[in-house]
Amino acid sequence: MTVKPTLLQDLPADLERERLPRHVAVIMDGNGRWAQQQGLPRIMGHRRGVDALKGILRCCKDWGVQALTAYAFSTENWGRPIEEVDFLMTLFERVLRRELQEMKAEDVQIRFVGNLAALPRSLQTEIERSMSETRYNQGIQFTIATNYGGRQEIVQACRAIATQVKQGLLDPDQIDEALFERHLYTAEISDPDLLIRTSGEMRISNFLLWQMAYAELYITETHWPDFDRSAFHQALAAYQQRHRRFGKV
Ligand code: IPE
Ligand code: IPE
Ligand code: MG
Repeated sequence: MTVKPTLLQDLPADLERERLPRHVAVIMDGNGRWAQQQGLPRIMGHRRGVDALKGILRCCKDWGVQALTAYAFSTENWGRPIEEVDFLMTLFERVLRRELQEMKAEDVQIRFVGNLAALPRSLQTEIERSMSETRYNQGIQFTIATNYGGRQEIVQACRAIATQVKQGLLDPDQIDEALFERHLYTAEISDPDLLIRTSGEMRISNFLLWQMAYAELYITETHWPDFDRSAFHQALAAYQQRHRRFGKV
């Protein structure tokens, strides 16, 4: 049985509800370094990373952030040792199976983005189930980027559009930004307002390249497994200090 929280944490008093980001994206980095600091194997960091993600998802829901997108596995992460890749694939599958009922009860709409067809078949099955069983939920849009690469996403969109042109269904003059966006994995999700990267690296690592055009960037030294409510609060407070100009004055 799922125990629903009876006491939802209110938005901290120093944050303005009207100026919250609608969509927060996170590069959950530093699991390995966190584990190393604790004298643990890297995989323990990934395990703790799942707990951190659950905490931030709950927090977004409590505080009224409408969409959360988390980078779980990049197209480049296949280059890691096979044991780590295998562990991650199994972890994703196990977590999905374990958490789906609670996600449904919490009204979470789950979506996966990335080249999903290249994932292990049993993981694909869990992914499809989680997406279809939560597709009408409206509590929060929760997107997990798995086998995701921004360049790969753009290339597959180009290929789909080129195919339509070749078939005579589309004229090149009809290709504009709006049409292009409809061919991205994120077609139904607004662009991120805030990108959080944990563990200090000042880079995007092939995440949401198109969608990030005007996201505010927030980078913290905190490793992902330690990224808790109070760290998220700090990120939101920093975001609310920003002046988003979108190229205007
Ligand atoms: C991020 O943590 C999780 C994944 C990429 C799956 P890392 O595993 O990259 O941790 P560090 O960067 O090595 O510390
Ligand atoms: C980015 O982290 C990918 C994920 C968090 C899933 P990486 O650890 O793979 O990025 P780099 O190698 O530091 O750029
Ligand atoms: Mg890393």
